[in-house]
Amino acid sequence: MPHLAVRHGVTQLIVDGRPFLIRGGELENSSASSLPYLNALWPKFIAMHFNTVIAPVYWQMIEPQEGRFDFTTVDGLLQGARAHHMHLVLLWFGSWKNSVSCYAPDWVKENEQRFPRAQLPDGRGLEILSSFSKTNLDADTAAFVALMRHLRAIDSAQHTVLMVQVENEIGMIPKARDYSPAANAAFNAPVPAALTTYLAAHRNLLGDEVGADWKEFGSKTGANWQDTFGSGPLTDNIFDAWSEARYTGAVAAAGKAAYPLPMYVNTALIPGGGRPLPELFGVWRAAAPAIDFFAPDIYFPNFAQWANRYQRVDNPLFIPESGRADAAQLGADAFYADAALYALGFSVYAPEKLTAGDQKTLGQAYEVLDELTPLILAGQMQARREIGILPSTTFNGTEDLKPLSYDLGDYTFTATFRRGWPPVPPGQTEPPIPGAHGGLILQLGPNDFLVAGTGMFLTFGVAGSGQEQAGIDSIWEGTFVHGVWTPGLNLNGDDDNQGRWLELPAGQFTIRRVKLYRYR
Ligand code: DGJ
Repeated sequence: MPHLAVRHGVTQLIVDGRPFLIRGGELENSSASSLPYLNALWPKFIAMHFNTVIAPVYWQMIEPQEGRFDFTTVDGLLQGARAHHMHLVLLWFGSWKNSVSCYAPDWVKENEQRFPRAQLPDGRGLEILSSFSKTNLDADTAAFVALMRHLRAIDSAQHTVLMVQVENEIGMIPKARDYSPAANAAFNAPVPAALTTYLAAHRNLLGDEVGADWKEFGSKTGANWQDTFGSGPLTDNIFDAWSEARYTGAVAAAGKAAYPLPMYVNTALIPGGGRPLPELFGVWRAAAPAIDFFAPDIYFPNFAQWANRYQRVDNPLFIPESGRADAAQLGADAFYADAALYALGFSVYAPEKLTAGDQKTLGQAYEVLDELTPLILAGQMQARREIGILPSTTFNGTEDLKPLSYDLGDYTFTATFRRGWPPVPPGQTEPPIPGAHGGLILQLGPNDFLVAGTGMFLTFGVAGSGQEQAGIDSIWEGTFVHGVWTPGLNLNGDDDNQGRWLELPAGQFTIRRVKLYRYR
């Protein structure tokens, strides 16, 4: 079975006995609804060097009538993936998709007596199934279990499907919680002991807002939500997280009982409601132990900041959706996530809709990652054998282009993102290298390193030494062909500025192998 394994403190996805690094794209929402349409896309995904496609399974399409399942589109999806040597991560578009229940079957949508909706404070219904209804939970669970049983039947030998995302971007809108009578009753009832017991047991570990909030109000047990957490907006978020996580965790647990693939929940990175933002991880963990991890959908320029918040001892990083950036930036982000944060993988949203130019650029970045994957995965197991490089960027997109330095082995690597030559007149700043900046460094031997990425210069020093200096013995461009390093040009003279630096040119993703030496 595909599974998650923690080795040397790092969680990896293991597929057929070997660690696996996802290079993927998540289909645009509608793309898996028509097999002829989908089948035309596979060649594009191959050209982009994907090894995995993340694809929705729509509740309304697989259960058009209650209890009658039709897996035609799922079967076609698996057949297409297999024919193109591709793996799949499936998205369960069940009760909630971007908070709303738009993928519930008609027989659910049209019967709100039986399948109650969440409500606004004034009693108006929302197109959101209430997480307080056991009928809703049972209906979603029955469909999800049918899907997982079907996967067991058709895929337990081949392992085309690697993981499953349960629901999609959960979290109440426009209010942070449900105000239906059942929800209000729960809000005024005691906080379940399972949550306060979890908070008590993880008191020192949590160090987060929820733990602090609980402490501030006296670490109460057996009191209602407002008495336990106060009457601010955080209480509504905790309450919503608890109810939606209980529901989603129950769906996941039942699905795992049928076919135990790793299961995760993705997060829209916007505040308000119970979505698993890092401050609500504890609530989610207490409520939904069957969920293996929480995955951020990163559409903001401050990629590194968000990715770092989701890489924790108790949470491996996986980026199911990224976008709203140019393709070279997405490529640079992928390098950083895989090498610096030991991600399970990286995926771009709606790759089939990218321009031909962006598809080409992303494909080039993924091709380099493909060649380096065995080394990246091995490096994840050996602390301090690999480095990921990405200049930090603020939420509004301002990139900080000051040089970044990293120690690896005996050497210090300094990445510079501004033009290095010819020198600018005193008092002026070198212009930025155009385009995206980022990449990785992998140590092969004491003096032997691979660097890959885009848009930067690297200079070298001796780590921790005031006396010794580092020089370049050689720089080779090259590729890995069937896992074997195959050098191209030896980059010398003008191409390494007479031994002063290594360049990873802008606008493309390349690999360089550099041999360093020390001198006084
Ligand atoms: C996040 C959702 O999870 C996706 O399904 C899709 O709606 C994107 N947003 C669109 O940007």
